[in-house]
Amino acid sequence: MDRTIKSVKAYEMMDSRGNPTVGAKVCLSDGSCGFALSPSGASTGAYEAYELRDQDMGRYGGKGVKKAVKNVNTAINGALMGLSADKQTEIDYKMIEIDGSENKSNIGANAMLAVSLAVAKAAAMSYNLPLYKYLGGINGTKLPRPMMNILNGGAHAKNNIDIQEFMITPIKTDSFADGLRCCSEIYHTLGSLLKKYNMTGVGDEGGFAPDLQSDEQAIEIICTAIEKAGYSTDDIKIALDIASSEWYQGDGVYFLPKRKVNMSGEALINMYEELCNKYPIISIEDGLGEDDWDNWKIMTDRMGEKVQLVGDDLFVTNPVKLCYGIDNKVANAILVKPNQIGTLSETMRVVRMAVEHGYKPVISHRSGETEDTTIADIAVATNAGQIKTGAPARSDRVAKYNRLLIIESEL
Ligand code: PGA
Ligand code: ZN
Repeated sequence: MDRTIKSVKAYEMMDSRGNPTVGAKVCLSDGSCGFALSPSGASTGAYEAYELRDQDMGRYGGKGVKKAVKNVNTAINGALMGLSADKQTEIDYKMIEIDGSENKSNIGANAMLAVSLAVAKAAAMSYNLPLYKYLGGINGTKLPRPMMNILNGGAHAKNNIDIQEFMITPIKTDSFADGLRCCSEIYHTLGSLLKKYNMTGVGDEGGFAPDLQSDEQAIEIICTAIEKAGYSTDDIKIALDIASSEWYQGDGVYFLPKRKVNMSGEALINMYEELCNKYPIISIEDGLGEDDWDNWKIMTDRMGEKVQLVGDDLFVTNPVKLCYGIDNKVANAILVKPNQIGTLSETMRVVRMAVEHGYKPVISHRSGETEDTTIADIAVATNAGQIKTGAPARSDRVAKYNRLLIIESEL
């Protein structure tokens, strides 16, 4: 089969918040084509690869991606034409070379990721394989456990809750489909329980966004929902994404913007320990800020044996950052968002690196998503074991769950 790349074309498209994003189509000489879309974050880490936006205030409030699209249609198209699509690493490093910057700011990580994923999809099609099988071979067979967001706060919702994401995760179900059903039933039960609160609808990832007396009350209501739906907190656990980089003021000080209180890193660690002792919480993401490595180290020493401590903004899917974490024994899990690093090869590499060093990978969507389901295939291909892809409430989130249901039936 002739898998040489014949054309690479990008388009300005739209994400789930109605903001522009890059879509890219890659076609090969044998007629195979792949299409992919980049997602986009709201509580983005400071050290993520650069998302190139036009800054033309006359279009989409400055968020247009015409420049990124043009970069694909000119420089990237020219450089990738004639390369073989199954040489993913070579292609990704070619784009990195053309970009030439530290953080992919010239071409734009949004442009590069869409192309990188589209190349893999075109190659998979050419081999007549589903994407997870092309990426994972005969090893990539494990369906991930959903970490389902059911209640939103922080930068993802206009309510009075400071913690960004309250998730549930089924630790004892027989299949992905079963786990998904449990989570969805609990989500609906939670919706009924929240009717008496001032519900402002749902947050960006589809979790309910009520006004409550405290963030702790959200956890209490979720525990009630688990029981009321007919499940036990022995089987269905809670995971939190604090997204505390949004709160970090520097010098170990945090400001919680909804409650309008200051807290020290130490006070936050104490609070997490108390919450974990009181409630069935098994995972905490970004409990501390992306620059607060000292407190991260203290939190890991104190809690790392019992609780999964996930670095999202801390590691930004970057092998160099993860390496520093491994060397210093900071965190014990990593959130993996392909657009934080900008290419598929680097994403796969960071997952491998995490697993080799005993860090648990959690494959993740962004708050600004699309119908693209590549992360579902990546989760299976890498045997990551966990996926974070929102509530069973919006098509951008549900598309990933549906993709996993299909993969499960194929396997
Ligand atoms: P983001 O949020 O996509 O807005 O960064 C997701 C997360 O923090 O995990
Ligand atoms: Zn996060």
